[in-house]
Amino acid sequence: MAKQLETLEPLVALCKRRGFIYQSSEIYGGLNSSWDYGPLGVELKRNVKEQWWQDMVTTREDVVGLDASILMHSRVWEASGHVAGFNDPLIDNKSSKARYRADHLIEQHIKSLRDQGQEAKAGQVRSALDQAINNPDKLYQIIVDEGIKDPVSGTADWTPVRQFNLMFKTHFGPTEDSSSLVYLRPETAQGIFVNFDNVTSTTRIKLPFGIAQIGKAFRNEVTTGNFIFRSREFEQMELEYFLYPDETESAFHEWVQNRFDWYVSLGIHEEKLRLRPHLPDELAHYAKACTDVEYLFPFGWSELEGIADRGTFDLDQHIEYSGKNLSYFDQPNNQRVVPAVVESSAGVDRTVLTVLADAYWEDEENDRTVLRLSPKIAPTKVAVFPLFKKKGMPDMARKIYDDLHTHFATYYDDGGSIGKRYRRQDEAGTPYCITVDHDSIDDGTVTLRDRDSLEQIRVPADNLVKVLTERLQATQVRLEVE
Ligand code: GAP
Repeated sequence: MAKQLETLEPLVALCKRRGFIYQSSEIYGGLNSSWDYGPLGVELKRNVKEQWWQDMVTTREDVVGLDASILMHSRVWEASGHVAGFNDPLIDNKSSKARYRADHLIEQHIKSLRDQGQEAKAGQVRSALDQAINNPDKLYQIIVDEGIKDPVSGTADWTPVRQFNLMFKTHFGPTEDSSSLVYLRPETAQGIFVNFDNVTSTTRIKLPFGIAQIGKAFRNEVTTGNFIFRSREFEQMELEYFLYPDETESAFHEWVQNRFDWYVSLGIHEEKLRLRPHLPDELAHYAKACTDVEYLFPFGWSELEGIADRGTFDLDQHIEYSGKNLSYFDQPNNQRVVPAVVESSAGVDRTVLTVLADAYWEDEENDRTVLRLSPKIAPTKVAVFPLFKKKGMPDMARKIYDDLHTHFATYYDDGGSIGKRYRRQDEAGTPYCITVDHDSIDDGTVTLRDRDSLEQIRVPADNLVKVLTERLQATQVRLEVE
């Protein structure tokens, strides 16, 4: 019997046990919703980012990379609309002193109406919410009209709804006044827009082209949770694809499909992925159209990435606020144009959570837990074990390790019973294990064990690089179509 993940708890426990992800500042009681990536986690995360960079930048002639600083001029965030509009609607309950996101309270209410079979009523509240999403007064009115109560105190003793800006503020240098105010960037995208002119004037890139960036972003989220799904410090992988304004519609659809296919190429089950176009009322202030790639987590369908048609909004804003000419010289037509943008904005941590949740498998028949990670992203590709620490087995295993680790991420383990070593690697998501045993010393062959099928074959030790290359490739392809 194969059991899939029903809640995140077993995955969180596995991540801690195997050194993928730890609670931040744990020895001081932990910092809520901040996470540290351990030895296996950092490799998995690097592999996700490297795969993205390879697919979005290195193998594309029309995309270049960038690494902008986290701290930028505060005018950037005025121009982008984040100072005025990057807010969450908050409401406080005067009795319990608990604070909530007003839209989340209403969403919970809609869910409980649905659970009670009141589908029509739930639909009405949903459409009221869609129309009120950027309007604190309307959100408050829904809470009052629906008689929504505080889940903690059970009272409806609410303050008005007010907007809370999600950007972290700090000060540049020793003086802490408004002139030194800077923000930790809430998205990497603006670093790309403000460097548009630098990139076009220092490279020979021509429209349509993209600028890509991976980096940290910070948001003082009101509600965090679901492990690494929503935290206050996270990483984004963003591409801003610049094109002639009349080309955005077809490019938007192409990028939506391209990005959906990328998640499938990581070995994620296709039936657990979906595309969800945004309703007009849901659109961010800059977007003309947006489609999310969503994954079916144990806590429901949730966003991994947004693909948005941002039009010329960002460059127009930076032209206005900076006074600089950020247009592009269109040589064939001998005119300057402000390019439009299709954006692909993905979360590194959400992708890591997705590949972990999707790969998690309790193999009850064989009494083991397995991460069926694609070899593309698995932190370790192969582990090498001597069956016993005697009769030349460790020497031969060491030699195999030394040969292999220049080709693949390889791990050497001689601690504990062979069964326990296999189980550890199953939980680490290592696709293949090699065991050096008595026969290896006599005939130069070793056992190669497949993580998923548990098949074991004998392979000549001097042929391992070839066999492993073929098998890792075959496993990757199998997981893409499975
Ligand atoms: N530049 C557009 C932009 O930032 P977004 O939808 O706000 O758009 C893009 O964020 C992606 O960043 C999300 O799809 C998600 O993967 C990731 N992300 C956003 N907030 C996050 C958070 N608090 N924790 C983890 N990932 C987050």
